[in-house]
Amino acid sequence: MGENALMSDVLELVDVSVVREGRALVDQVSWSVAEGERWVILGPNGAGKTTLLNIASSYLFPTSGTAQILGEKLGGVDVFELRPRIGMAGINMAEKLPRRQTVLETVLTAAYGMTAHWHENYEDVDERRARAFLDRLGMNDYLDRKFGTLSEGERKRTLIARAMMTDPELLLLDEPAAGLDLGGREDLVRRLGRLARDPYAPSMIMVTHHVEEIAPGFTHVLMIRQGRVLAAGPVETTLNSRNLSLCFGLPLVVERNGDRWTAQGLPLSS
Ligand SMILES: Nc1ncnc2c1ncn2[C@@H]1O[C@H](COP(=O)(O)OP(=O)(O)OP(=O)(O)O)[C@@H](O)[C@H]1O
Ligand SMILES: [Mg+2]
Repeated sequence: MGENALMSDVLELVDVSVVREGRALVDQVSWSVAEGERWVILGPNGAGKTTLLNIASSYLFPTSGTAQILGEKLGGVDVFELRPRIGMAGINMAEKLPRRQTVLETVLTAAYGMTAHWHENYEDVDERRARAFLDRLGMNDYLDRKFGTLSEGERKRTLIARAMMTDPELLLLDEPAAGLDLGGREDLVRRLGRLARDPYAPSMIMVTHHVEEIAPGFTHVLMIRQGRVLAAGPVETTLNSRNLSLCFGLPLVVERNGDRWTAQGLPLSS
């Protein structure tokens, strides 16, 4: 609100650091996501990707610097008003959800911003929405299955449907394809691609380790290493061998195949 309502930035981090036990997990990161952009965050294990998503979801406050989410400054706004505007699907989420709840219930409970408790008075309209999102993610045949019995891929797709339930303006995905088999990955990439290209879909930020998981429709990439931004910009110009090699700390060759990406290590020369 206020003067910032003019800006259509979905996310604006300025000099953001997160310090724990004297170490900067996120180190003076400045990054902005504009409306309509779909970002991929790439970086090795421990680079600070999930920490950044935790800030973007308003669950973590920076130690220093400022974070503005959907036009609201973190620290100056009631996070309970902000959180329903953000959808988050990550590994931490899955652990908080009751294993005995059905898939449909798991998605429905998101409408009321809680992780547990099945109410009898869900509106018909909510149930229709939940079914529609599950359908979109190919989970139609699993509506009555217990969440705890799902495979990794089925769980991931349920979590994405759940994250969309509040009709978020910002959708955050933390390694959505991790643990999926090749078919499951390709299926998810296709679905995420469809979502990314949908002009009515929310702004998206997806964390991944693998360029193969970047769905067509993702427009920008943020590369981080040891909490610092190494490169940020449009996928076409930013995702190259040089940047990816620096990011992961080994010589890599990035190639574009049609609308998909691959990366592999250079053979060691003797
Ligand atoms: N509360 C904490 N106290 C101390 N260190 C932490 C804390 N939370 C996270 N870290 C450390 O911060 C670093 C960044 O963590 P983060 O989870 O953001 O990495 P990541 O890029 O998501 O890694 P991964 O690819 O393995 O998921 C890691 O080294 C992690 O051990
Ligand atoms: Mg992580």
